[in-house]
Amino acid sequence: MTFDFDAVVDRNGSDSVKWARYVDARGHNTDIIPLWVADMDFAAPPPVLTALRRRIGHGVFGYNQPTASQTDAVVAYLRRKFDWSIDADWIVWLPGLVSGLNVACRAVGAAGDAIATATPIYPPFLSAPEFSGRRVVQVPLLCDGEGWLWDFPTLDAVLGSSRARLFLLCHPHNPTGRVWNEDELWQVALLAEKHDLVVCSDEIHNGLILSPSCRHRVFATLGAEAAARSITLMAPSKTFNIPGLGCAFAIIPSSSLRRDFCHAMRGIVPHVNALGLTATEAALTLCDDWQADLLDYLRGNLRAVERAVAAAPGLSMLPVEATYLAWIDAREFAAGHGIDNPARWFEQHGLGLSDGADFGAPGFVRLNFGTRRPLLEEALARLCRATGRR
Ligand SMILES: Cc1ncc(COP(=O)(O)O)c(C=O)c1O
Repeated sequence: MTFDFDAVVDRNGSDSVKWARYVDARGHNTDIIPLWVADMDFAAPPPVLTALRRRIGHGVFGYNQPTASQTDAVVAYLRRKFDWSIDADWIVWLPGLVSGLNVACRAVGAAGDAIATATPIYPPFLSAPEFSGRRVVQVPLLCDGEGWLWDFPTLDAVLGSSRARLFLLCHPHNPTGRVWNEDELWQVALLAEKHDLVVCSDEIHNGLILSPSCRHRVFATLGAEAAARSITLMAPSKTFNIPGLGCAFAIIPSSSLRRDFCHAMRGIVPHVNALGLTATEAALTLCDDWQADLLDYLRGNLRAVERAVAAAPGLSMLPVEATYLAWIDAREFAAGHGIDNPARWFEQHGLGLSDGADFGAPGFVRLNFGTRRPLLEEALARLCRATGRR
């Protein structure tokens, strides 16, 4: 491994949202290891840092626009990684992917319309429809003991009865870590056609495929029909750990859908900042080696999490195929100990996890394993102690 992911980068007292949660009233750090919000504790790839230094060295930060080479970087990346040939005109740059979700909700249908999604789900999928004056309809994913699965008959029925106009797809899926396979994506596409839906596919985690048996298939590449009803949202921020630089993009092949999307952005969504675009170009063109090493390191972290969860009484998790997030079922543990909020319980035992209730699934917790191994191991020791295992 060329890159050192064990290196200690002290984020205490920095501007990190993740680390700032656990300071006391006097600003001192408490002894809670933060494994919640989805960023990693690793420095950005060296080519990204070099590109940023060069851009800062220029010294002028006037109003900027995406350069031709920044746009070319996206086009080439999609072709190289996903065999997806896009037209540069299909790209709509965004200052963040969640902005894109909210814009999509405003761009499709009208106030009061239903927007569907499958739960559990990354919380902005539930809030964006509401912020846009739409109704969110949820279709729970099923769990067969071996993995998370779609309930297509129920999805079909709900789409029909709610007359939803938009489906929000999370692929790979946060929080379960599933990489939807081609068959599953086809079923979504066929239902979209049947119910005349736009599919907004959030593919922000596409560069974090951990399972050797999975490959990321872009929803819009299923065929012309799927492409025509798709809004694909992507960003380099998860894979290359640069979410603080605020740069994402939508790819919208349909010109009428793209016009509606851009219309909904008018006057509200700012342009993308120069540093975000600079970092994106470097991430998409120069960082394959770093990404490969990162994925190896995350696979090692995932094995450590799986071992710890298997050994902790009352906790369980299903295979994580992508992301650096483990979705842990703590319901049995909580029920056995009369605990009503497992996230709070773990926090009291020195571990800051995300509460499954925010994802529509109380009793679950989400653990972010995108951190250096020694810190993760200390966190996992606390997890075991918190469940009564020494
Ligand atoms: C599925 C998904 N979409 C979007 C985001 C956030 O995107 P952004 O920071 O660009 O708004 C996250 C962050 O965790 C995510 O997991």
